[in-house]
Amino acid sequence: MLFKQQAWLRQKLLVLGSLAIGSLLYLVARVGSLDRLQPICPIEGRFGARGQAEFPLRALQFKRGLLHEFRKGNSSKEQVRLHDLVQQLPKAIIIGVRKGGTRALLEMLNLHPAVVKASQEIHFFDNDENYAKGIEWYRKKMPFSYPQQITIEKSPAYFITEEVPERIYKMNSSIKLLIIVREPTTRAISDYTQVLEGKERKNKTYYKFEKLAIDPNTCEVNTKYKAVRTSIYTKHLERWLKYFPIEQFHIVDGDRLIMEPLPELQLVEKFLNLPPRISQYNLYFNATRGFYCLRFNIIFNKCLAGSKGRIHPEVDPSVITKLRKFFHPFNQKFYQITGRTLNWP
Ligand code: A3P
Repeated sequence: MLFKQQAWLRQKLLVLGSLAIGSLLYLVARVGSLDRLQPICPIEGRFGARGQAEFPLRALQFKRGLLHEFRKGNSSKEQVRLHDLVQQLPKAIIIGVRKGGTRALLEMLNLHPAVVKASQEIHFFDNDENYAKGIEWYRKKMPFSYPQQITIEKSPAYFITEEVPERIYKMNSSIKLLIIVREPTTRAISDYTQVLEGKERKNKTYYKFEKLAIDPNTCEVNTKYKAVRTSIYTKHLERWLKYFPIEQFHIVDGDRLIMEPLPELQLVEKFLNLPPRISQYNLYFNATRGFYCLRFNIIFNKCLAGSKGRIHPEVDPSVITKLRKFFHPFNQKFYQITGRTLNWP
């Protein structure tokens, strides 16, 4: 009997001890994560007056909790006023490239406490109907943020749409422009895979990639195929350079963002004059997904949707070689203009 009671007591003590240690560990980790994510330094440069832009300590709670309510429209005007919240035009835009990793880049930058993302692609500058609604319409599509935070939106169609550079220039000639690129042939196949999946969902048949990418009459690369044209980055960039100097662009290596996201994100923080706040803690490799996922704090983490990271169909190696040869001179020019060499084949 005594022995039974002792065993019961020991078990109880063990459970209580584990609970106490667990709680302690939780508190330590939580305080640690908050420390890491609370920037005290001002945001320099164009994004705010030097020295006066103290970033509120409430930012983290705000980003994860309140913001959600505001977006859902559950907030009152009083709450918005109380928290000094505003809807700001973007200070930086991810203008492309489609399938370059634009969603991953936006979500990862949103880990930074001074960054607030526009969740949806707004398509203001590339869609005539939206553009005709005016800049106030665009601003009202932006999330609520503190004045010291910066808003970032992404609409990959901007990069390839003729009218967009002039329209963005008219809104803000000193805006910062982010372009995320991947090896052009891989990007074209990724683009094709997305369209193919859409067709399959509607039970439609579609051509093979090889048939679209190579002109059957000439056996040369089919430059009329949109997925090929989009990957000629230098051609599109040249249009943008009629409006913006190269210093206003930052090139993100989308292939490296997949394999090793942190250094790429640190380069973006620098370009945006943001204090470095994204750390290895915020990114963890998820073996099931085969990609890096995001950790905001000890409780909240997420991976990108399944539509990001599709399995590509197999493509005839001779077509891949032909495409790579075709893109090579355009890539060289792209490196030359941007000053970023990406060592694509
Ligand atoms: P694939 O589907 O070809 O693999 P976008 O957001 O511009 O449409 O780009 C989609 C691409 O983002 C995906 O292309 C994927 O490779 C890439 N990507 C980069 N980082 C990712 C991440 N952490 N999780 C999922 N996809 C990521």
